[in-house]
Amino acid sequence: MSKLQVFPDLITDIHPQEWKFQVKKILKNLIPSHVRYKLSHQRWRLMFMPNLLLNYAYDFRRFVKNSSVSVKHPSTNLKVRTKTQLQARITIDYHSIEKGLAMKEPRIGFGREVIQRLLSNLPNYQEKYGFDETVQITLNTLSAYYYFNLEHGFQDEQLYESILKLKEAIPTYRNSKNEGGIFKITKKSILEDAHIDLRAFFQSRYSIRHFAPDEVNMCLIEQAVTMAQKTPSVCNRQSSKVYVFSSDEDKRKVLSYQSGNRGFGDQASKVLIVVSDLENFTLIGERNQCWIDGGMYAMSLVYALHSLGLATCCLNWSVEHSVDKALKKSTNIKDSESIIMMIAIGHLPEELRVAQSPRKPLQEVLIVK
Ligand SMILES: Cc1cc2nc3c(=O)[nH]c(=O)nc-3n(C[C@H](O)[C@H](O)[C@H](O)COP(=O)(O)O)c2cc1C
Repeated sequence: MSKLQVFPDLITDIHPQEWKFQVKKILKNLIPSHVRYKLSHQRWRLMFMPNLLLNYAYDFRRFVKNSSVSVKHPSTNLKVRTKTQLQARITIDYHSIEKGLAMKEPRIGFGREVIQRLLSNLPNYQEKYGFDETVQITLNTLSAYYYFNLEHGFQDEQLYESILKLKEAIPTYRNSKNEGGIFKITKKSILEDAHIDLRAFFQSRYSIRHFAPDEVNMCLIEQAVTMAQKTPSVCNRQSSKVYVFSSDEDKRKVLSYQSGNRGFGDQASKVLIVVSDLENFTLIGERNQCWIDGGMYAMSLVYALHSLGLATCCLNWSVEHSVDKALKKSTNIKDSESIIMMIAIGHLPEELRVAQSPRKPLQEVLIVK
């Protein structure tokens, strides 16, 4: 190889911006390909660890900043910073009373500590944020607890007075049966509603990558989200939310941060982003809870949309911290909200192709011990 071939452009004037490119080109000519391969592998290994740590640091910072884990134990200090954090702590408590009442044989007078905490947090919440569903549900749960004990011969006068005082402060309070507490239900009525051919329903859902041009009406999204609201969540904290993007400009913008929608994302009528808010979590053990609750919510939402005849394709949010930050900045999604996934949705075309996506055999995934 002649000297001029190895250093092709050295003899010409090089623009400063082209230096990097030219140096790379020269090194490429000088270093044999097997050495280049080894070096690039080593470089990747050297960069991998710091980059992974940086991404964990991002998750760590977000959890410490946004959850109420750094506020001492829930029972001792309730100086939480945001409405969602206080709402979450009240929800954990009222739900523990609901759970206690839903046992086969609830213990009379159970959960005194929890009741005391609710009686101190609820007026605090009401004073700061006014009357809302959280207050309504908590008061109903406290009433259910009081009447359960009364029926079993335990009259808690202090609790009665406290509930009365709280209720009197709310002119719009409703004594509603289905908003906190428990209700009786029969096996027959559960089975009647559960008797649907779910196998065919599951089998007929595919990830769709070809949408009809018709627009998806917001009514359908509202129906699907209402259905997905029934998804179970840890202590009923309901950390999940759904963002809807409809305009061409917005859809293009959000999809530009996601790498798995190439070739079909532009046909979607709407793009949803499912998030789970870290402000709902209170313990170190809950550091990954957002992925579970948010993931389950997303699954319900996909099935709900499928039941309404819509086509969906989950879009991964397997990104590094810089991309996560960039999307949040451009959409005003809060730092506390963990992005679970995007979902591209549209109407089904009359005919389409779907990937077979065969599943693993049962014996590989069902391990009977
Ligand atoms: C969290 C998640 C992320 C996904 N991301 C993408 C994606 O970015 N692009 C895509 O075309 N499909 C994506 N999929 C769809 C999967 O490829 C698909 O669910 C799988 O192959 C099974 O096929 P099926 O959904 O048709 O049953 C995703 C699915 C899930 C659950």
